[in-house]
Amino acid sequence: MSTPRYQLLLIMFFGLNALADESPGFGEPVSANDLNALDVTVEPDGKGLPNGSGSAVEGAMVYQNHCFACHGKNGEDGINARLAGGHGSLTTAIPVKTLGSFWPYATTIFDYVRRAMPFQTPGTLSNDELYAVTAYLLFINDVIDEEQMMNAESLPAVSMPNRDNFVWDFIPRN
Ligand code: HEC
Repeated sequence: MSTPRYQLLLIMFFGLNALADESPGFGEPVSANDLNALDVTVEPDGKGLPNGSGSAVEGAMVYQNHCFACHGKNGEDGINARLAGGHGSLTTAIPVKTLGSFWPYATTIFDYVRRAMPFQTPGTLSNDELYAVTAYLLFINDVIDEEQMMNAESLPAVSMPNRDNFVWDFIPRN
């Protein structure tokens, strides 16, 4: 029994079509520009930090407008995560983990805030505002002075109080 001609035609049509499409046909390739906009990772040593700068002086205003409602005055007593204080509390019965008492790298503050804050509108702050509010958070944690400019060079050089208490605890298992 021979295959009817219209069936052969159908097989040829769909077969050739499948060969012509190298992808499933959803969306389009991501351009380098679009990819750069998503590539926001900042590493502990500062790799990936953008241009821009700001100090706690400008950062106080950014904080007031975009963060205060949830994180409270001076990063304490807000309705959400406490951001300041707790210094020296980690070895006590009630450890208070904040940026100042716990976080090992200042660059992570920039990375985190750029990715995730303000909570309801992440991605809306400019690089200058991000550096400024990072400087403000470091200032209210007594880590830097109010006038100190934070940028891609100075931020990685900030020494966080709890930095040296992070140790490698790598136990080889086999
Ligand atoms: C609408 C409320 C809200 C606003 C506004 C807001 N945050 Fe947050 N923030 C949160 C919440 C909720 C968390 C905890 C998120 C989690 O643990 O997943 C948080 C966590 C954080 C943390 C991490 C704290 C830690 O130790 O884990 C930082 C840093 C931070 N916010 C900074 C900011 C900054 C800077 C701004 C302003 C630019 C801001 N937040 C605005 C709600 C808010």
